[in-house]
Amino acid sequence: MKRVDDFRLRLGKHELVPIMIGGMGVDISTSMLALEAARLGGIGHISDAMVPTVSDRRYNTKMVSAKQKQYKFNIDNSDKSVVQFDLEQLAEAQRNHVEATMNAKRGSGLVFMNCMEKLTMNAPKETLRMRLHAALDAGIDGITLAAGLHLGSFALMEDHPRFRDAKLGIIVSSVRALQLFLRKNARTNRLPDYVVVEGPLAGGHLGFGIEDWREYDLATITKEVLDFIKAEELNIPVIPAGGVFTGSDATGFLEMGASAVQLATRFTVTRECGLPDNVKQEYFKAKEEDIEVNGISPTGYPMRMLKNSPSIGADIRPNCEAYGYLLDSKGSCDYIVAYNRELAAHPGAKKVPVFDKTCLCTHMRNFDCWTCGHYTYRLKDTSVRADDGSYQLLTAEHVFKDYQFSVDNQILLPKAAAEQAA
Ligand SMILES: Cc1cc2nc3c(=O)[nH]c(=O)nc-3n(C[C@H](O)[C@H](O)[C@H](O)COP(=O)(O)O)c2cc1C
Repeated sequence: MKRVDDFRLRLGKHELVPIMIGGMGVDISTSMLALEAARLGGIGHISDAMVPTVSDRRYNTKMVSAKQKQYKFNIDNSDKSVVQFDLEQLAEAQRNHVEATMNAKRGSGLVFMNCMEKLTMNAPKETLRMRLHAALDAGIDGITLAAGLHLGSFALMEDHPRFRDAKLGIIVSSVRALQLFLRKNARTNRLPDYVVVEGPLAGGHLGFGIEDWREYDLATITKEVLDFIKAEELNIPVIPAGGVFTGSDATGFLEMGASAVQLATRFTVTRECGLPDNVKQEYFKAKEEDIEVNGISPTGYPMRMLKNSPSIGADIRPNCEAYGYLLDSKGSCDYIVAYNRELAAHPGAKKVPVFDKTCLCTHMRNFDCWTCGHYTYRLKDTSVRADDGSYQLLTAEHVFKDYQFSVDNQILLPKAAAEQAA
């Protein structure tokens, strides 16, 4: 019987364990998590979502408070077009994050950056270009283009000296999106080094409609992408993601012709994951009916999350002067519109809860938007419980190796802490 370790992912001169831990913004897929994947011979991702916040938290900068102070005069204005990111400072934050991570890298694996196009940051092209260039400058092994079609993203990197040597990949949810990406980026004469095919059971934002995501399945889309790539003789590794919960699930995709798998949910309850410990316990405890796909993200993409996320029905005032990552090129965000509508409908009210949209920046920053994969309700089967009812956190190495070596849909449980101490 085959297992994941019987396969290898080839990316240029690299031969890797075919396990990729997906990007999870804002610092949920931490450097520590990504570095463990690389140490164990696979691929890990850090994310550049709200990277100035990450820089402040991890590298002792003061970028967010400085921006908030600079634009304080605009707080009561619903037009946020004056609130611009300082591109040099954005690049510095990106370099801080990437350099510290790459300097700590050990082992034969790789560390990539997850880069979401939907973070339009009040100047979509300029900020994305700066994020991509700064990550390449700082020595990231590769960049995964996420949350968007990225029709112009290769062109934004074309003039960078590492454009042809860094590994560059794209996340798609359909063969059509891949075809469009290839057509629009053809002028740069460079193919992606890998394609992540993300199905409807993934965590984070979904590339499907809020009503119709159930009609799709990862195996079918993966097969369509594999067939297309073969027919076009493109030779691009295909990496399915979304609902790959056991080593056997992963092996099934590798036997089908995939080159690796991208995983996230099972790593959300590891020590290296950036979620606070109490939130990790919420993930462990979740039942199937506690998880929903909703439309509260101002990006316009559906998002899967725990129904008890504090971000649902919250009443916070937009905080774009400090953050502003989802401001479109006109300085607006769907949360600002929803918040102002509720404010006008309830004059003088102390609390103005908003249910149809959420202030994603503030909530992701505070780990209050508990986005998760569909199979989060199975996490309780991956660990043991202590006497107080809490679940034991896992190590990233434990989960990684379980995927790498397990067969027969088995999940390796950790030794109980008391047993380990004895
Ligand atoms: C908590 C969490 C946060 C995520 N955040 C992002 C993100 O910021 N960008 C992105 O492209 N994908 C994001 N994802 C998707 C993962 O990278 C991955 O492709 C997917 O969740 C894999 O499916 P699985 O969680 O069932 O293993 C996130 C997933 C989770 C669970």
